[in-house]
Amino acid sequence: MNHKVTSESPIGIFDSGIGGLTVVKAIQAALPSERIIYFGDTARVPYGPKSQITIRKYASDDIAILMRYQPKMIIVACNTVSALALDVVEKACGNIPVIGVLKAGAELAVQATKNNRIGVIGTQATVCSNAYACAINQLNPEIQVVSKACPLFVPLAEEGFIDHAATKLIAREYLSEIRDQGIDTLVLGCTHYPILRKVIEETIGHGIRIIDSAEAVAFRTKKLLTESELLNSNLKSCIPHLLVSDLPQKFSLLYQLFMSSELPDVELVEV
Ligand code: DGL
Repeated sequence: MNHKVTSESPIGIFDSGIGGLTVVKAIQAALPSERIIYFGDTARVPYGPKSQITIRKYASDDIAILMRYQPKMIIVACNTVSALALDVVEKACGNIPVIGVLKAGAELAVQATKNNRIGVIGTQATVCSNAYACAINQLNPEIQVVSKACPLFVPLAEEGFIDHAATKLIAREYLSEIRDQGIDTLVLGCTHYPILRKVIEETIGHGIRIIDSAEAVAFRTKKLLTESELLNSNLKSCIPHLLVSDLPQKFSLLYQLFMSSELPDVELVEV
């Protein structure tokens, strides 16, 4: 699908739920006057424990929703979709550029490691796909990658259990194994995880560099829009337009909790 875009067209961003808001936050900080249209597939979250066929179908539905708003570019703020269905999104976007979080995170991790040992935590689907190790080793084949799926982090983030005793307990269970592998860098390979960053950082120990791909994505977005002369020159800062597939009120509460900013309307859409 190809539509005409202008600098005023929105940036489309999507995730399975609230995780992608960590990317929205970084985009807003770097590009405050850009219009953002965000879709969170709250009816079908989590994506991580699902099969590749299902994740590819969900990705195709998600992008169809965002394309109705004629975006000038798309950000896949979901590592699971970036790992297993980026081609589905790219195909649906035609000549509209697509940025996925996974490649940005892999690049940042490669730049950060000093001892060439990187840990990656993500959903079951992302870890099983081996997509991070492939992306990292494409940049530097010498790097050893150790991965661990942390599926319970997603519902904990969706419940707003940011600093909860349950989160600390589960973090210890998941992270002890990876902490003992001599890594100096840990990639938060799921956009929900930066919401739990404080607990993850405390559990893994402060000597390990934490990689959140959101800032790298914001940097790439700015570069892409500048190069294609599509930066919005309007100086007013924009409130994002939020769409969800279920429970808009719950999404509003979580939005306030994580973004600590003015609450936009949350619209319910059917997938
Ligand atoms: N936040 C998503 C990711 O980055 C998906 C989490 C999920 O739905 O399991 O992988």
